[in-house]
Amino acid sequence: RTASLVIDPAFAVGPVRRRTFGSFVEHLGRCVYTGIHEPDHPTADADGFRGDVLDLTRELGVSTVRYPGGNFVSGYRWEDGVGPVEQRPRRLDLAWHSMDPNTVGTDEFMRWADKAGIEPMMAVNLGTRGTAEALDLLEYCNVAADSAIAEQRRANGVDEPYRVKMWCLGNEMDGPWQIGHKTAHEYGRLAAETARAMRMMDPSLELVACGSSQRSMPTFGEWERVVLTETWDFVDMISAHAYYWERDEDLQSFLGSAVDMDRFIDQVAATADAVGAANKSDKVIGISFDEWNVWYQDRAESRPPSGDDWPVAPVLLEDNYSVADAVVVGNLLISLLRHTDRVWSANLAQLVNVIAPIMTVPGGKAWKQTIFHPFALTARHAKGEVLRVVLDSPTIETAQFGTIDAVDAVATAEGDEMTVFLINRDVDSPVDVSVALRGGSDTLVEALTLSSDDPRYQASAEDDASVVPVANDTASVQDGKLSITLPPISWTMVRLA
Ligand code: AHR
Repeated sequence: RTASLVIDPAFAVGPVRRRTFGSFVEHLGRCVYTGIHEPDHPTADADGFRGDVLDLTRELGVSTVRYPGGNFVSGYRWEDGVGPVEQRPRRLDLAWHSMDPNTVGTDEFMRWADKAGIEPMMAVNLGTRGTAEALDLLEYCNVAADSAIAEQRRANGVDEPYRVKMWCLGNEMDGPWQIGHKTAHEYGRLAAETARAMRMMDPSLELVACGSSQRSMPTFGEWERVVLTETWDFVDMISAHAYYWERDEDLQSFLGSAVDMDRFIDQVAATADAVGAANKSDKVIGISFDEWNVWYQDRAESRPPSGDDWPVAPVLLEDNYSVADAVVVGNLLISLLRHTDRVWSANLAQLVNVIAPIMTVPGGKAWKQTIFHPFALTARHAKGEVLRVVLDSPTIETAQFGTIDAVDAVATAEGDEMTVFLINRDVDSPVDVSVALRGGSDTLVEALTLSSDDPRYQASAEDDASVVPVANDTASVQDGKLSITLPPISWTMVRLA
């Protein structure tokens, strides 16, 4: 099977945004406790942060990190997490049926963010709480004046405000599982009033209204329309969340998951534009894809404890990813990149232990899941402008998405450097790809492919290095044409100069 591509610097969609490579730290399972924070760990620093996790976070190339949830935020009292640690209360976390010792809170997270070199993205609780508490947290984080709550931050040892730019107005408020779940009208009004007041305190904020927690929600579409109608003047982005997993052992459909993400983004953008038209407005609302990943939601690891069992940092959502999962993650990044004109921010959910690229053994090593690699390489090498590609691909049949292209691709270019990201979604056949390179970048720098004879191979604490992206020796460039063979179920990156 053969495919052909044309790549031309004139086909620019928009800039590669660093914020596309965000991630997420929630008080959930072992993401915070024994994830980023484990004071007794041999690599822990004076603040109790694991040095090995900080190193891997930097290597992953994460730009922004959303905090503190997730479903957790809808019951969170941020005040519990600031001030002297020994005085902080232990609280029930109803979202994940766990106990939170609150030994990590806002100030610890900001310190970790600083060490990791990432931009914090905060979420406020619009589940059990409202505008007043959101304003209090904003004052604690962003106000330089000598107001009471800013002074509280100073008393806790932080003189300069954190000046956090991006704020999520609640989390997944469309979901019946959410503490304080609301109708679109109820949420839209609360989000609008909270956003309006937050802007009065800090006009420089970038605010994200909750969109749908998945495209298959019964309220999808209408939820966005109503929420954006209410919040139009006060927000910059609307969120989208999507998790994919292989259902009914249908690997071929699962490999087509990016088709759903493409349609999701296009439909949210169209809905936002329709609200703009009704408002006679030229404003463009962006999309914050602030939760996305592969997540096997039907596995036992995703079920929270119950009854009298309220453990601190239980093992939850610790999916072990395969090579096929990593190919899907790489493809989802391609979808986010090609929508860079509309997706202004995105977060791989999550960062450590919980549906995560980085895993830790308490007291032991930190290791990389298969999904670490396409994320890290894309974050490192996608630069400059995103280029739409013209693609002629053989097709595959899927039960879930119908007939789709076997190959998917996007390119980025900065000066003489061009990088092409390619997927072969076909479970059986390799595809020979020939790429017409217009614009002068026609020297091969490297071609790396992630694939395996066993697409179900999973990395582990004992072995996270035997299946990684390796040089693809089929790649060559001649007379402005790149030729490469993509093995079945594979992710590939080709760098040219
Ligand atoms: O990322 C795991 C959970 O998925 C988050 O807490 C929630 O927002 C979503 O449903």
